[in-house]
Amino acid sequence: MKKALITGITGQDGSYLTEFLLSKGYIVYGVIRRSSSFNTGRIDHIYQDPHDPSPRMRLIYGDLNDASSLNKIIRTVEPDEIYNLGAQSHVRVSFDVPEYTAEITGLGTVRLLEAIRETGVQTRFYQASSSEMYGNSPSPQSEHTPFQPRSPYAAAKVYAHWMTVNYREGYGLFACNGILFNHESPRRGETFVSRKITKAVARIKLGQQERLFLGNLDAKRDWGYARDYMEAVWLMLQQDEPDDYVIATGETNSVRDFLGEAFGYVDLDWQKYVEIDPRYYRPTEVDVLLGDASKARQKLGWRPKVKFRDLVRMMVDADLQAESTRASDPAVARNHELLGNLQAKSSCPVERNTISSKPKMWSASTEMHSPTWSSILRAKSAASEPIAPTQANFSTIT
Ligand code: NAP
Ligand code: GDD
Repeated sequence: MKKALITGITGQDGSYLTEFLLSKGYIVYGVIRRSSSFNTGRIDHIYQDPHDPSPRMRLIYGDLNDASSLNKIIRTVEPDEIYNLGAQSHVRVSFDVPEYTAEITGLGTVRLLEAIRETGVQTRFYQASSSEMYGNSPSPQSEHTPFQPRSPYAAAKVYAHWMTVNYREGYGLFACNGILFNHESPRRGETFVSRKITKAVARIKLGQQERLFLGNLDAKRDWGYARDYMEAVWLMLQQDEPDDYVIATGETNSVRDFLGEAFGYVDLDWQKYVEIDPRYYRPTEVDVLLGDASKARQKLGWRPKVKFRDLVRMMVDADLQAESTRASDPAVARNHELLGNLQAKSSCPVERNTISSKPKMWSASTEMHSPTWSSILRAKSAASEPIAPTQANFSTIT
């Protein structure tokens, strides 16, 4: 059975990749960082009791800022594949915390690469590179387009990208960069523009919100579906040779287009609700991202399945369900919000959702889940409005 190690397992992509790898029969180890509040909402539905004889998903405390934890994890787990999805991933925020962004998003990658080299563990490495690295390079952008980073986040990603190439060429590491264009889902963080819009659409439609404040509406992005993109990420590590790949849909739309599609879907005119707040402007903006993923198509056989319009509708539907449930049952609503009502019908075969207070391999201090809260929420949600019969509808977020 193959072992995969994922940093950023609690994020949007981490949750989809974990589902995908479990469905492929992997044992998945996820690095989570200490938080004063629960941050595992996106993966609670696939969490397995470590008291089971052989749980296939295990969580480990670590941090991209802490080389010794990464070394220890890699040495102990000896993963066949490592997916580095962890990052301070918000572009606007990176202007506020540039040094921290460099530390986690840039140097964090080097810490992992060094840990692999030092331990000598034979593994394959995936680095979550980003279309943001292209900055204002002309579109369509491919693997041959030069990077012109226009944010601390992008600069950190460029550094991590080239370090990954360096370790591949210098030390023969099987290391790949996936240059992923924007990908969204109902599990997208609420401060990214897509989710900010779809959540607002739902709340406005339900009479819970009156206005939506946004920044630059002219920026264009190549928006795809996160679940599709995680399959491409896995494919990269299954090739005979390591390489770098652009993953994109080949279609670009403006934030304005997104607004039109999302509000239009529920028969609302976005111009009546949206106001510009300059605080959401960035000191430097990336105007147009449009990816050319022909290399991934040819070499990986990968194509996106979900197009822009369906993606927007899927997200609006999920937020409508979450927001309409919120009033009657906030816990279930939170679950809808984190997983997305459509995503909840996951192909993941792992149905065990018991709660642990002691992950198997690691120290007893790992009290990540409260059995009391979780079982109460699970029972409540099962009784009220199940998302899918095979999933536990609890959330650890209270
Ligand atoms: P996300 O939802 O923001 O998730 C980021 C993950 O990184 C979370 O699990 C977060 O943990 C973790 N993390 C943050 N700081 C960490 C630290 N110091 N140590 C360990 N883990 C840490 O991001 P995403 O959308 O899933 O994206 C996944 C990766 O792909 C990121 O590297 C992102 O930069 C990159 N990327 C994303 C896109 C996109 O459109 N989504 C496109 C290109 C590249 P917490 O839950 O505790 O915060
Ligand atoms: N977040 C946000 N909030 N963005 C806004 C807003 C707003 O209120 N109003 C307009 N925008 C514009 C931003 O200026 C940007 O041009 C565009 O919407 C998309 O912003 P985000 O959704 O925050 O995504 P991003 O493109 O900056 O970054 C995402 O994609 C990258 C890949 O290109 C993140 O997921 C990065 O981690 C990822 O690397």
